[in-house]
Amino acid sequence: MAFIKWVNLLMIFHFFAATPIFSHSTSFTSKFLDLAKEPEVFDWMVDIRRKIHENPELGYEEFKTSELIRSELTKLGIPYKYPVAVTGVIGFIGTGSSPFVALRADIDALPIQELLEWEHKSKVPGKMHACAEEGLGGAKKVLDSGALENVSAIFGLHVDPTLPIGEVTTRSGPLFAGCGLFEAIVSGKGGHAAMPQYSIDPIVAASNVVLSLQHLISRETDPLDSKVLTLAKFRGGDAFNVIPDSVTIGGTFRGFSRESMMHLKQRIKQVIIGQASVYRCNASVNFLDEEIPYIPPTFNSDELHKLFESVAGNMFGVNNVKSSELIMASEDFASYQEAMPGYIFLLGIKNISDEHISVPHNPHFQVDEDALPYGAAIHASLASNYLLKLHQDLPLVEEKYNDEL
Ligand SMILES: *[C@@H]1O[C@H](CO)[C@@H](O)[C@H](O)[C@H]1NC(C)=O
Ligand SMILES: *[C@@H]1O[C@H](CO)[C@@H](O)[C@H](O)[C@H]1NC(C)=O
Ligand SMILES: *[C@@H]1O[C@H](CO)[C@@H](O)[C@H](O)[C@H]1NC(C)=O
Ligand SMILES: [Zn+2]
Repeated sequence: MAFIKWVNLLMIFHFFAATPIFSHSTSFTSKFLDLAKEPEVFDWMVDIRRKIHENPELGYEEFKTSELIRSELTKLGIPYKYPVAVTGVIGFIGTGSSPFVALRADIDALPIQELLEWEHKSKVPGKMHACAEEGLGGAKKVLDSGALENVSAIFGLHVDPTLPIGEVTTRSGPLFAGCGLFEAIVSGKGGHAAMPQYSIDPIVAASNVVLSLQHLISRETDPLDSKVLTLAKFRGGDAFNVIPDSVTIGGTFRGFSRESMMHLKQRIKQVIIGQASVYRCNASVNFLDEEIPYIPPTFNSDELHKLFESVAGNMFGVNNVKSSELIMASEDFASYQEAMPGYIFLLGIKNISDEHISVPHNPHFQVDEDALPYGAAIHASLASNYLLKLHQDLPLVEEKYNDEL
């Protein structure tokens, strides 16, 4: 699962409702999947995917990847805007006038050495596409660029390696948690470990800060409103007999509503400063807003959820559109959803004939390329159905459900 995703390529779809192929057809949704499975299209997608996999680049450094995408867009005659958020590309399909719908795709890799031996293994030491993907708040940068100002809605997906190919999971409302980070310095006064009366011990103070922070979830949080607060960093002294001057602690907090995240953030600061002062220490708290921006919780609008259920039900079969649990990991797609209606869902990439489950962020992570047509087709179908709905204000899709698998 992507903990933080970096969004970098957006294909903006524009659909003109009077286009003849759609005006009399009620079954174009399932056609997208057939088209995406055509050997010509499938081989083209696999070829690009392998090139990208062999040449991974980290967030904001995807210059070669971006160049590859632009050259493919040029070959297809699709105009694009570049650069957006440093290395991002936005391709434009359609007449160029509103309404617009956007599709999000990530292009950054992880700092992981690939350990899987196969023909198209990463050629870059220490870098690998092992999720989809990570980072530094790219979605916010895309929004800040203004490039999406006339977009009516945005769709995005994340792979789910536990879910079979041909299935999707999702839910209305919150799906991925919001994620905040914090770091605090608890300052005392160093000295001889045998004479604590001449020191102000920051280790005991910071230890109590850690314990007090645990009570924010266990004692102040509604047990039905899932949240987590983990202190993952604790750095104190280096010697057995020296009380250090200060201790640095740090961690992450997650939750499913912006209000509860903001409240938690405020209480984290109060508890750290207040509890440190009990032990005569000072504390400063940094929420790292500049370096690693806060990611809000994702929130799927109910209207888009209905559209998704209809489109995905037609394409994959109603029984293959599953309901997802809440996911404690985060997705910076949430930033788009704060600016416009947006919808995120999980796409199955597990081949059921393969016992092995690929764990994201693992050096052995593997994608079954047979999943590619499903992702491409559902994206294309969501975009066109959304625009069709805007234009014609018709009931979503009226074709009969047909199970593709
Ligand atoms: C959005 O639409 C307005 C009005 O048509 C136009 O002036 C503006 O350039 C558009 N913005 C983008 C990013 O396309
Ligand atoms: C805490 O800050 C106050 C005010 O700046 C200062 O007087 C005091 O020495 C500090 N205490 C420690 C333990 O750093
Ligand atoms: C799973 O893998 C097998 C063997 O590679 C392949 O024949 C099959 O099409 C795959 N299944 C799906 C659903 O893609
Ligand atoms: Zn990831």
